[in-house]
Amino acid sequence: PLPRPFTVPLPVPATARPVRPGHYEVVQRAAKVEIVPGVLTEVWGYDGTFPGPTFDLRRGDRTVVRVRNELPVPTSTHLHGGVTPPGSDGYPTDLVVARGRGFRPAPGAHAHHDPSLWTLHPGAKDYVYPLDQRAATLWYHDHRMDFTAPQVWRGLAGFLLVRDDEDDALPLPKGERDIPLMICDRAFEEDGSFRYPSRDRSLLVTPGVEDAYMEGVEGDVILVNGAPWPVLEVDAARYRLRLLNASNARRYRLALTPGGGFVQVGGDQGLLAAPVAHEAVTMAPGERFDVVVDFSAHPVGTEVTLVNTLGTGPARGVMRFRVVRRARDDSAVPGRLSRVDPPDRSAAVATRLFDFRRTGQGGGGSWTINGRPYRPGVPLATPRLGTTELWRFTGDFHHPVHVHLARFQVLARNGGPPAPTDAGWKDTVDVRPYEVVDTLVRFEGYRGRYMMHCHNLEHEDMAMMADFDVV
Ligand code: C2O
Ligand code: CU
Repeated sequence: PLPRPFTVPLPVPATARPVRPGHYEVVQRAAKVEIVPGVLTEVWGYDGTFPGPTFDLRRGDRTVVRVRNELPVPTSTHLHGGVTPPGSDGYPTDLVVARGRGFRPAPGAHAHHDPSLWTLHPGAKDYVYPLDQRAATLWYHDHRMDFTAPQVWRGLAGFLLVRDDEDDALPLPKGERDIPLMICDRAFEEDGSFRYPSRDRSLLVTPGVEDAYMEGVEGDVILVNGAPWPVLEVDAARYRLRLLNASNARRYRLALTPGGGFVQVGGDQGLLAAPVAHEAVTMAPGERFDVVVDFSAHPVGTEVTLVNTLGTGPARGVMRFRVVRRARDDSAVPGRLSRVDPPDRSAAVATRLFDFRRTGQGGGGSWTINGRPYRPGVPLATPRLGTTELWRFTGDFHHPVHVHLARFQVLARNGGPPAPTDAGWKDTVDVRPYEVVDTLVRFEGYRGRYMMHCHNLEHEDMAMMADFDVV
C-alpha cells in the first residue's frame, strides 16, 4: 500500500565524510530500506543508501573517491558534469567487480562489442576528481555497459556539489535553505521490491528490457530524495532548490500550486549570467535546475505543491512544502549572478551532426547515433583540446543528449532562439522529436576518451551512445 501523498517527511541525504583530507570511501552494497512506510525495499546504494551520500566539495579540491563494490554485478561510477580525467570518468567497460566474484561476461551477451577488451578492477577503484571547474550541482551514478538503467533504478545515484567563492559571495539562500532535490520515478511490486522489466533479473547475462519498454521505463511513484511524494516544512522565506531529474526516462514540467513560479539562478554547469523567471520548468533526465522559491509570498499555513504537469494520475504530484512560520530572511537574488559570455557561433572550428534514431523493430531493434549502435573504442568525433565545436543534435523521439567532460551552450532550436530553460552552461540538453538543436561545445580539461549519449537510460543501454576522443 502506497502512502498518502505529502505525508512522508523529505529526507536530505547524509553528507559524505572524508577518511582523511581529500580521500573518501564508499561501498556499493545492497540494503533494505523503508521507502514505502511499513515495507522494506532492497536498494543497491552507495553506502547502502538511496540517494547515496552527498559530496559537498570546493572547486580545486582534488578529491579521491575509493568505490568498493560488494554487489553481485559489475559497476562503473560516472560523475555527471565533472571535468574528470578519462581514467576516472566511469567508462562503461572500466568495471569494478566484487572481490571473489570472478565476473565473466556470458558468451553472446554483449554482441555489439568484445568483452575481452574490458578492464576489471577487483574489489575497488579510486576515482580522481580534480574539480577544477565552477560551482555546480553535479551527480554521480552507475554507468555499467548495457546495464546502467536497471542499476540506477535500484539506487546507484547521489549528489556531488561543487562550491566556489563566486557562488558563496552571492546573497542566495544558504545552509538549511539550500536543498538538493533528486526527483525520480519508480514502480514497486506487492512485496515492496522495485519493479523493473529487465529481460534478465540477475542483471548478469542478457541486457535490455522487455520489448514493450523499449522507449523507456517509467514508474507510477514519484520519489524525491528517495521518499514517495514527500513533504517539507519551510519558513516563509526564500529557498534555493537544486532540482535534478534522476529518472530513467520520465520528463517533468514542474510548476508550483498555488503559483508563484521559480527564479532560475543556475543550470547543469552552475550560475547563469542573470536570473530567469519561469512559470514552469521542463526537465529531461540528467538535467539540473537551480531555482529560488520565495515562500514568504504565502501566508503561514499555506501548502505549496510541486506538481508535474506532464504527469497523469499519481505521477502528477511530486512533493509539498508546508509554510509553517515567519522567519528572518537576509537572502536576495541579485540581478547579476556571474559572467557567462553569450555563445559566439563563429568560434566553432568544426560542425558535426549527431542523429539519434531507432533502427529495427522489437527485440532486434536498437537505438543508434548516426545509424551506429554503440561500440566502445570507436570514436565518432575527435575534437581538439581547447577548441569549440558546433554540435547539432536531432532525432526521432525525446532524447536528452549528454556530453561527458565538455560543457556547452544552446545556440538555437530549429534555427530559432533557444528555450528560456536552455540558459547558461549545460551538459545535458532536451532534444525533442524531430527538432534540430545547435550547441556550442567547449572542449577543456583533458585529452582522452569520453562519451556522449542519450540520457534516457533505456536508450543508453540499448546502444544510443558514442565515444569521442579529445586530441
Ligand atoms: Cu549521467 Cu554518461 O551520464
Ligand atoms: Cu534517447
